[in-house]
Parts: sequence; structure tokens; C-alpha cells
Amino acid sequence: MWRSGRDHYGLVAIGFHWSIAIAFVGLVGLGAWMVGLTYYDPWYNDSLALHKAIGIAVLALALAKLGWKLIDRKPGYGPEVRAYERAGATATHWILGALLIVLPVTGYLISTSEGAGIDVFGLFEVPAFFDVSGGTRDLAIDLHYYLAYGGIALVGIHAIAALKHTFIDKGSTLIRMLIPRPRSSPVDRSVK
Ligand code: HEM
Repeated sequence: MWRSGRDHYGLVAIGFHWSIAIAFVGLVGLGAWMVGLTYYDPWYNDSLALHKAIGIAVLALALAKLGWKLIDRKPGYGPEVRAYERAGATATHWILGALLIVLPVTGYLISTSEGAGIDVFGLFEVPAFFDVSGGTRDLAIDLHYYLAYGGIALVGIHAIAALKHTFIDKGSTLIRMLIPRPRSSPVDRSVK
């Protein structure tokens, strides 16, 4: 139930997957919207504060997910998933995993560049650890921008691939990321 098995994801892996996915898509939408606000908009400060707090939560979730992945079992792919698709899926998962750490870190560097910490939902503050000056801050802003929009494009490809495997190839890819119990569909045991 909690842990993943040979042919299914456990509740913890499913929980990490969907909470991070929803937060990531929400953060890109919120980020794109907030940078267009003017100083006089009532949401000018609150939208950025909310973006930062959710972004820090995503960083924490991504690190916890990485830790869990190291001890959890990795279900094999279904037989309908071709070799090149397995390679593509594995690469996408690792790129997205790295992005979920690097992207919030760039956001953190932008936000703390003037020495102020980050308030996380009024619960605690993440202090400014580094002294980030002009050029590095500009680099962090550029990286944050390109990684966020590049990341959402990758999430889109990842979602289309999952839908294709489910509805065209009639596999269990999407179903098993929704239901935490073993499926009756066959699994290729040769793939770890
Ligand atoms: C997965 C996590 C995150 C995603 C997907 C994300 C996404 C975005 C996006 C799409 C923008 C708008 C970029 C633009 O159109 O110019 C943005 C801006 C921004 N984000 Fe994030 N963000 C994340 C995490 C964070 C974190 C953790 C922080 C700070 C603690 C942060 C701070 C900022 C700031 C300060 C801006 C405004 C940058 C500027 O003024 O150009 N972000 N973010």
C-alpha cells in the first residue's frame, strides 16, 4: 500500500508525484501572472510571497521524494512500453527531478540576494545563506525563467506520453500512478 511494488506505485510515491505536479504547474501559472502585475495591484506583494512559500515547499517535497526513491522499489515498465520510450521516460524523470531542485534554488538565490530571508506561510523563515551579487543574480533570474518554461514544456511531453501509453497502447501507465495496488496487467520483469 505505502511502498511501491513490482508492478505498481505505492501511496507515498503517488502522493509525491501528484502534489509536486500540481504545485509545479500552479507555480508556473502563478509566476507568469505575478511578473505582469504592477506595483499598485493588490496582489503585487502577496502573489510573490505565495510563490516563494510554495516554491520552498516544492523544494522540500522534491528532496523528500528523492530520499524516498532511494529506498522505495521501482516498478517495471509494462510490455507495451518500447525500449526507446523507456530510455526517454527514464531521462525525462531524472531531468525533471534535477529541475525540481535547481529551479527553486535559483528562485531562492534571486529572492535572498538582498539579504532578506523567505517567509514560508508564516510558519518559519529560510534565512539568506549566500551573498549573491549583480552578475550571479542576473544568471539566477535567467536560469529561473528558462528552467521554469522549459520544465513546463517537459511536463507537457511527459503527460502526453503517459496519455498515449494509456489510451493508444492500452497500457497501465496512468492508472498505476493513480491507484496504489497491484494490477493484473503483465509486466516486463527484465526491467528494473
Ligand atoms: C518549482 C518551483 C518553481 C517554479 C516552477 C517557478 C516558476 C516561476 C515562473 C514561471 C516565474 C515567472 C518568470 C517570468 O516570466 O519572468 C517565476 C518568477 C519568480 N520566482 Fe519562481 N518558481 C519556482 C520556485 C521559486 C522559489 C522557491 C522562489 C523563491 C524562494 C521563487 C522566486 C521567484 C521570483 C523572485 C520570481 C520573479 C523573477 C523576476 O523578477 O524576474 N521561485 N517563477
